[in-house]
Amino acid sequence: MKKNDSNIKKAIKYLNNNDCIAIPTETVYGLAGNAYSDKAVSRIYKLKKRPKNNPLIVHYYSLNDLKKDCKIENTFDKLFKKFCPGPISFVLRLKKTSKISKIITNNSNSIAVRFPSHPLTRKLLNKINYPLAAPSANISTSISPVSKQDVVDEFGPKLKFILDGGSSKVGIESTIINLIGKPHILRLGGINSKLIYKLINSLENKSKKIIKIKVPGTSKLHYSPGIPVRLNAKKNFLNEAFILIKKRRNLNKNYFYLSKTNNLKEAAKNLYKIFRVIKKKGYKKIAIEKIPNINIGEAINDRILRASKK
Ligand code: TXA
Ligand code: MG
Repeated sequence: MKKNDSNIKKAIKYLNNNDCIAIPTETVYGLAGNAYSDKAVSRIYKLKKRPKNNPLIVHYYSLNDLKKDCKIENTFDKLFKKFCPGPISFVLRLKKTSKISKIITNNSNSIAVRFPSHPLTRKLLNKINYPLAAPSANISTSISPVSKQDVVDEFGPKLKFILDGGSSKVGIESTIINLIGKPHILRLGGINSKLIYKLINSLENKSKKIIKIKVPGTSKLHYSPGIPVRLNAKKNFLNEAFILIKKRRNLNKNYFYLSKTNNLKEAAKNLYKIFRVIKKKGYKKIAIEKIPNINIGEAINDRILRASKK
């Protein structure tokens, strides 16, 4: 506990100095900096090699903090009460008086925000008087990190500090919902889309129009393990790593279990970790068993589909 407190102090020192650091969240680790500081935000883009037109998600401690920067849309309160803090991000309108760095939003008047539930990061957010911009802590287009070691593997000594919060519980990025206009999901993630739509359909005015926004981060190249991925595989070929969700009778050194009991939550938590293990072992190809498209399985299928695209 004491160690955590002194690490939070260290983290704050770096952040107050406009440096970026890695922070743990329940979804994946983030590369964080003061969202009100152009300098800190520029450092994030540079370190991550992120294209300037791809906006960042901003992380808040409380609703009161959020209200300084964003306009609250109709359905927001219900979703906030049900799912926050947790693995969901909201696209909202920025207030004119907001101090959010324009670099984060690429000068647009909308912004993605979220309230992470990881206790260390919540403690950190509570102790600073600015929100944290934090994309996933990986080099652009690579897979998101779910542990301190993953972040080290991405940035090495270029990153000065990582707040170690153990391995991420959800293991897949947040669900992003656009609440400007008719609410709609932009990226599948930690919270099942059906649960979200069930809640908002009972509240929303049906005549609202969907306002299209492009989400650069959902382009094909994302979440790539860097080697070919074959989906819905029934068996693996020689030298192909085989990712499974149900335990097989026979043993095989090429088998990697997302779960041995068909547990989708466990599978999501293990997905990126297993991609990294497979790469480190030097495999040149991956085959993946069919994953049920229910609950968080829909987000797993979204990510592996992208990973399979060349
Ligand atoms: O779980 C998460 O959301 C993690 C943790 C660290 O919080 N963050 C994360 O950030 O996944 P990132 O930058 O890797 O992915 C954010 C996605 C990108 O695809 C980006 O294009 C999209 O959100 N995005 C950010 N701001 C947006 C906005 N204003 N409107 C639409 N999409 C936006
Ligand atoms: Mg990312």
